[in-house]
Amino acid sequence: MAGRAEIFEVGPRDGLQNEKRNIPVAEKIALVDCLSRAGFSRIECASFVSPKWVPQMAGSAEVLDGIQRAEGVRYAALTPNMRGYDDALAAKADEIAVFASASEGFSRANINASIEESLERFAPMLEAARHIDLPVRGYISCVTDCPYDGDVAPAQVAAVADRLFAMGCYEISLGDTLGRASPDKVARMLLAVRDVVPVGRLAGHFHDTGGKAIANIDAALSLGVRVFDAAAGGLGGCPYAPGAAGNVATEAVAEHLERLGYDTGLDLAVIREAAEMARSMRAE
Ligand code: HMG
Ligand code: MG
Repeated sequence: MAGRAEIFEVGPRDGLQNEKRNIPVAEKIALVDCLSRAGFSRIECASFVSPKWVPQMAGSAEVLDGIQRAEGVRYAALTPNMRGYDDALAAKADEIAVFASASEGFSRANINASIEESLERFAPMLEAARHIDLPVRGYISCVTDCPYDGDVAPAQVAAVADRLFAMGCYEISLGDTLGRASPDKVARMLLAVRDVVPVGRLAGHFHDTGGKAIANIDAALSLGVRVFDAAAGGLGGCPYAPGAAGNVATEAVAEHLERLGYDTGLDLAVIREAAEMARSMRAE
């Protein structure tokens, strides 16, 4: 065995947030309940953002209320500000995630704030979470390429990672939001980030627009990353990253990791079932 590697399932959030069809809450609950049988420790299934910005996530409280919570699974929610934090807590999210960007252009387009303003917004959330031992994950988008600013310097990613980690995020998920990264770029970025955040606290979040997500995962594995975000069925995209296609598919990552000899603790048959369910939720 090559050791343990984990998939952080983001399908019910990152997978569905950009779908055009208004997906009923019951379908989202069914997807999460299916995924809960697959062996994940963490499933992101909610997002307490402005419904004007991301209408698809408007039913997040109902989703968290309706799912059957499996033992040993933490159900996660995105929270952009204190309002989202309060709503996530009221809905009994087991962990939350703040989301920053390594590039100014995407930060402005996605959350209407500069990078610095966004970090200032996150500070009271991390402070409040610390008092109640609520785990907070930190995302960084556009870690190699930005749809607005172009190439992103590894030092910029490292600077944001350093800040989020110092503020108390227990893990930093590094997002190739556009799905345009290459293994070389991923490696250069990770070498810089590893200098400021222990590699055991990093995760890779690859979208697959350019078809290189699995190669990018391999680059990250070779530099010590062992946690990867993925979405069942390969759904996804960000409404503020024009042209970005789906997240790397959970079933593809799980099969790849198993083939390389990693123990993921996942049931591939259940994952395939969830992938099919996720794909069927797409607009016709
Ligand atoms: P804003 O317009 O600058 O903020 O949005 P505002 O404070 O002026 O609020 C505007 C309206 O939203 C107000 O309502 C607020 O009450 C309401 P109005 O008075 O107009 O009726 N509002 C909220 N409603 C519900 N929940 C809240 C909330 N906050 C304010 N928490 C804001 C700023 C951050 C709210 C907005 O820009 C936003 O919601 N952005 C979210 C965008 C988003 O969700 N993007 C996708 C997720 S990130 C991603 O996918 C990348 C990732 O996967 C990693 C990767 O791939 O790189 C994580
Ligand atoms: Mg994403």
